[in-house]
Amino acid sequence: MQFFLDTANLSEIRWAARGGLIDGITTNPTLLAKVAGDLDPRDVLKEICSVVEGPVSAEVVALSTEEMYAEGKELAKVADNVVVKIPMIEDGLPAVRRLAADGIRVNVTLCFGAIQCLLAAKAGATYVSPFLGRLDDIGHDGMDVIRETRVIFDNYGIETQILAASIRHPRHVVDAAMLGADVSTMPAEVLRKLLLHPLTDRGLDQFLNDWSKLQTRAKVGA
Ligand code: E4P
Repeated sequence: MQFFLDTANLSEIRWAARGGLIDGITTNPTLLAKVAGDLDPRDVLKEICSVVEGPVSAEVVALSTEEMYAEGKELAKVADNVVVKIPMIEDGLPAVRRLAADGIRVNVTLCFGAIQCLLAAKAGATYVSPFLGRLDDIGHDGMDVIRETRVIFDNYGIETQILAASIRHPRHVVDAAMLGADVSTMPAEVLRKLLLHPLTDRGLDQFLNDWSKLQTRAKVGA
């Protein structure tokens, strides 16, 4: 499974990239708006693309097919590793088809059902993004979408990658991996939690403690 960081925050991205923890980035208008301030969001995107070699998703904000296509073309010019994010709406799918025909990778976002994922794949999406946390928030089980989409894609040999999004905690990552999602995208806070286990810390304390007792004994015996 690949790990993407779901952020536009450059210090978080640098931290994760330095540790070799991530394979790519997803952003969205909310995440870019949070960090851009007075900066041009395209410059922020360009900087992100220079820090991370893997795919960097950047979302269009237009709503008509023509405008989404034109905006997608512009976003794709920012860097070779840009993946254009198109929302899962009726007018979005023809834009996905045209961008894909031009050789531009597309991530269809805001997917909440397996059939939406299938439609996006048929349009030529490289990634489909089911939003787990937002489904859980309204009392559904977001994992059902991953489970069903995996079966459908495997039934038909569809190569579109399932990108588990809206991840809120490490259990989402484990479950999505068990169900065969290709990618999990998560905030830095969740990625950090993946590294931690209290028994690791306790075990290390114990090892170091025992080792220092041995050193003390060796000194006393000398
Ligand atoms: C994915 O590409 C989205 O940016 C993201 O996962 C949305 O997550 P949220 O529901 O935490 O905003």
